[in-house]
Amino acid sequence: MTTLIKNGRVITATDDYIGDVFIDGEKIVGVGKTLPQTADRTIDASNKLVIPGAIDPHVHMELPFGGTVSSDDFKTGTIAAAFGGTTSIIDFAIQYKGKTFKETLDDWDSRAGPKCAIDYSYHLAVTEYEPRHKKEFAEVVERGITTFKIFLAYPGVFMIDDTTMFRVMQSAGEAGGMTLVHAENGIAIQQMIDNLVAEGKMEPKYHAQSRPPTMQADGVARALRVGEVANAPVFIVHVSCESAMNEIVRSRDEGNASFGETCTQYLFLNETYYDKPNFEGAKYVFTPPLVPKENIEPLWKGLKLGYLQEVSTDHCPFNFKGQKELGRGDFRKIPNGGPGVEDRLSLVYDGAMKRGFSLNKWVDLCSTASAKMFGMFPKKGTIAPGSDADIVIFDHNKERTISAKTHHMNCDYSLFEGMQIKGLPETVLSRGKVIIEDGQYKGTPGEGKFIRRGECAQL
Ligand code: URP
Ligand code: ZN
Ligand code: ZN
Repeated sequence: MTTLIKNGRVITATDDYIGDVFIDGEKIVGVGKTLPQTADRTIDASNKLVIPGAIDPHVHMELPFGGTVSSDDFKTGTIAAAFGGTTSIIDFAIQYKGKTFKETLDDWDSRAGPKCAIDYSYHLAVTEYEPRHKKEFAEVVERGITTFKIFLAYPGVFMIDDTTMFRVMQSAGEAGGMTLVHAENGIAIQQMIDNLVAEGKMEPKYHAQSRPPTMQADGVARALRVGEVANAPVFIVHVSCESAMNEIVRSRDEGNASFGETCTQYLFLNETYYDKPNFEGAKYVFTPPLVPKENIEPLWKGLKLGYLQEVSTDHCPFNFKGQKELGRGDFRKIPNGGPGVEDRLSLVYDGAMKRGFSLNKWVDLCSTASAKMFGMFPKKGTIAPGSDADIVIFDHNKERTISAKTHHMNCDYSLFEGMQIKGLPETVLSRGKVIIEDGQYKGTPGEGKFIRRGECAQL
């Protein structure tokens, strides 16, 4: 099966031209201003942008958390991702106590493999790393997983100690991989939570008060210092505030391999959302929490200047009814997380264009940088001969309103309800097959393939 995408404005992280893309089977085989080939199928992309499929490197599908499970499974979550122009996700396979790395990854494979509508991988979230795990670590890398995650938060659940932090960073660095860190001072935060509860402060807004930006900056600084002595690259996930970002800037200035992302919610929303009546503030209970609005423009600036390398969603949805409601009267019981995988490409387009970013930078933030940093470039993240034909035809002139009534995520609310934005992923191809067209999903769940990843680039 061959496909010719004609007359689109082809944008990669470096290119920008009106031209054609020729696809044979799952791969792009030709790009150029006017290609002479004829194909089994021709798609007219005139007046549209033709971009590499977006990559969301931070999602949690069907994650058990806080006595419940995130409401998108690998099927619904990846179909929603596809509607939003995302053709690859990286989830987090979390090692539960006593489980080996292999058991952990086999468990995630058994759930993701039969359901994913787009290509997928996982970061391995390590919670135990004894010397006996070292051999297994190498086997994980051989399996095509080169990124590892550690939590400095959630004591008693996922939080690791400094020995484990050092060991993971060192092994990942030696393997050409990368360690991702959820960086907060989990211990001090626990004390702040206990203090608030002792004062009877149980509303959703106290989730945010218990986790101030300073405690995130503290976690970031510590993780980056340990990475420095382990001589290993460190990537800070879900940076929500300027002070935490500034720790990355400081570390990079000192010559360290320090990197980070922010998420769409931190680029658009702020802490006043916790004041919504009728417990609706619970919709915005995720970690780190929303912060004062003064942080938003510095984060955008950080993206523009390369202090932060990409934008993810940390998609981890819980329905308001029946799930967020578990925490009525006690913010500690509100499952942490929110929906977002479907909205990212359009939201970043809208926000980036309003701030004078180039189209190339938008593509880099939503696709190419993640492909490079997480070891899957140029298979993913660009439009070039030999790359997978993961392509989005994006109608950048289309105006629309985000709403839970029209989104495809399995979640009864939207973080961005009512927001008017420009830009719609109109047609989406995953490895050469059209999976989104005319507002319909045309694929088959389970067609997504596991992405074997390699060495991580340091941007
Ligand atoms: O609140 C969040 N972010 N839930 C998902 C787990 C995590 O910390 O990334
Ligand atoms: Zn986290
Ligand atoms: Zn997360």
